[in-house]
Amino acid sequence: MVVSRRGFIRVVGGGVVGAALVGGGLQGCDRMPASAVAPWAGPGSETDPRRRALSWALLAPNPHNMQPWLVDLRREGEIMLHVDRTRLLPETDPFARQIVIGHGTFLELLALAAGAEGYRCAIEYFPEGQPAPDDVTERPLARIRLQHDGTAADPLFSQIPLRRSSKEPYHQTSLQSEHAQALRGMPRSGVAQLTIATDATRAALFRSITEQAMLIELETPRTLKESIDRLRIGADAIAAQPDGIELHGPFFWWLSRLGLMTPEKAMTPGTTAYQGGIDYALGWARATPAFGWLTTAANDRLSQIEAGRAYVRLNLKATELGVAMHPVSQVLQEYPEMATLQREFLSAAGAMPGQTVQMLFRLGYCEQVPPSPRRPLDALMMS
Ligand SMILES: Cc1cc2nc3c(=O)[nH]c(=O)nc-3n(C[C@H](O)[C@H](O)[C@H](O)COP(=O)(O)O)c2cc1C
Repeated sequence: MVVSRRGFIRVVGGGVVGAALVGGGLQGCDRMPASAVAPWAGPGSETDPRRRALSWALLAPNPHNMQPWLVDLRREGEIMLHVDRTRLLPETDPFARQIVIGHGTFLELLALAAGAEGYRCAIEYFPEGQPAPDDVTERPLARIRLQHDGTAADPLFSQIPLRRSSKEPYHQTSLQSEHAQALRGMPRSGVAQLTIATDATRAALFRSITEQAMLIELETPRTLKESIDRLRIGADAIAAQPDGIELHGPFFWWLSRLGLMTPEKAMTPGTTAYQGGIDYALGWARATPAFGWLTTAANDRLSQIEAGRAYVRLNLKATELGVAMHPVSQVLQEYPEMATLQREFLSAAGAMPGQTVQMLFRLGYCEQVPPSPRRPLDALMMS
């Protein structure tokens, strides 16, 4: 993400670096490398319809931008989708629930993209057997066959290149009721139920819970380290590894050059890098006028995939409406330090015993943010 001047100045407290930045002068440096965002241009001259649809699918939202997808195209007319088990998040997502949601988002974009070229996606889930509910194996999550039937394009397809997870403080404006209604009115396929909380009292409660959850994640060394290990700081690192949590732009260029922003510093309480990370995340949480969440009755792999499919459709619809959306998953995560706050959240969210809130997200308004990096399609191929 490009860190804003406002966020940065808050982080460094207006010291030497802040003064240099306020003076300007480095606006053009440390830009996002073009290669890292090239996939947002779509399939270009690809001719295989599977590769064309996959070129859009890899733009799906996914946890920590790990892009945990592997595809096998070795059988004619077929796509096998697997979890890339080298790209899991074992500390914050110990049961790979979020990783599997990130396969639902991928499958939904795949289906939209195939549909835009007249193909229906016949998706067979778990063609080699159901995985255990809390494990991911080498067996595929889905076998997809594209059937040319002149399917009409879904208008949401055109939003794919514009969709973002908008990781910014939102304007102090309520979510317009017609926007909340349009999101609530999205056709429900699958099992995920949507709730949107727009009233000021409830939004304040969810802001407070979100802030507390962020603090638990950031102050628990092993969960913080999971994010720090996935930081890509500066354009060179992003070009070499177009995934994970990217930080670039003049502000980070300065911090890096002054030795203030290193993975070690970001892990060390009392440093600018550590405190800046906390302040920045809390800044998002505090500037949130409304929250939404998706709930499922079960928590099996299929429910998680369906939640992912529903989530990205909402994200695309929000894009069309000009509404910003951003998942804040901390309180949903299944590790012991989060358990007490999670129970408080589930009660506030009205979840019934046994139900699982699969996605929690901020809703509001902000300027369009730039696209996040993606690996090229060939990086997803199994050989
Ligand atoms: C299951 C899931 C959980 C996510 N949780 C978070 C989160 O807690 N915090 C966050 O900033 N982004 C979260 N995201 C958004 C990803 O960080 C984002 O999709 C990724 O960085 C790629 O950016 P993009 O969506 O703008 O393309 C989540 C996405 C998914 C699918």
